[in-house]
Amino acid sequence: MPGRNPTIIVVGSVNLDLVARVSRLPAPGETVTGAELGRYPGGKGANQALAARRLGADVSLHARVGADANAEEALALLRADGVDLSDCSVDPDAATGVALICVAPSGENQIVVAPGANRTLRPEMLDLPWGDALICQLEVPAETIRKAADDFDGFFCVNLAPAMPVPSEILKRADLIVVNETEAAFYGDLLNEGEALVAVTHGAQGAHLQMGGKELASARPPAVEAVDATGAGDTFTAALTVALVEKQAHQDALAFACAAGACATTKQGAQPSLPYREEVESILITYSPVRTGSNKDSGNENVS
Ligand code: RIB
Repeated sequence: MPGRNPTIIVVGSVNLDLVARVSRLPAPGETVTGAELGRYPGGKGANQALAARRLGADVSLHARVGADANAEEALALLRADGVDLSDCSVDPDAATGVALICVAPSGENQIVVAPGANRTLRPEMLDLPWGDALICQLEVPAETIRKAADDFDGFFCVNLAPAMPVPSEILKRADLIVVNETEAAFYGDLLNEGEALVAVTHGAQGAHLQMGGKELASARPPAVEAVDATGAGDTFTAALTVALVEKQAHQDALAFACAAGACATTKQGAQPSLPYREEVESILITYSPVRTGSNKDSGNENVS
């Protein structure tokens, strides 16, 4: 794509993340006290939009927030980095989405989401512009994602998170599906029924890319000091989409996405930690992303 940035459309959620840093994650029924509280912009859609923007794409976010003070706080970093929010509408009757997040010293987290206005992003509200790629996740209604996928002509990435049943048309339409190991187990063979590339993330162990059940590439992330994994999967999703749209080879695209995801674990909060392109490219120079035993092709024949 010489001479211009990729154009990425994101249809998805906006949340304000209320983050409690705890000495350990609570068990069911247990109270853990002594936490430090932070507030950060988040939501999978918003995180993926901002990650794609910081990695060099022109991005518009199609989303819904409430008519409350949390909305401006949730949108602040998107605005600051130039994500187009002109199709981000306000629901006067709903609250902006809120995520309650506990983060342990290891960086592991637990998340509960109160979706609020994300739930009222209806299919008829979408009027998507042209773009190279569309990215969706599952924090807004599935029928809205389906409409977006049907209407859009370009490369379609769906991040099946959080895992829940979805219309099969979404999976069939996808060019790229991104899941973590838990989500991969939830969807099972459904992931391999269409012709999508499927990226499966394995946390600190990296990720692999498969199609029709056959592994195409595998990469490990750089060693980093992880303090908060929130937003790492969103960064991986955005980075992989950007790299594939740029026609990077599968192995290179996966390494780029793993490095970007790792960078996103090194700071507190979802959006403050999303890396800029220079940071990812400089870290890529310093480590070998190939996982032991990987002998995969480096083609990128699937992106038109
Ligand atoms: O993927 C991380 C995001 O999930 C958080 O920012 C939180 O808002 C939840 O939606």
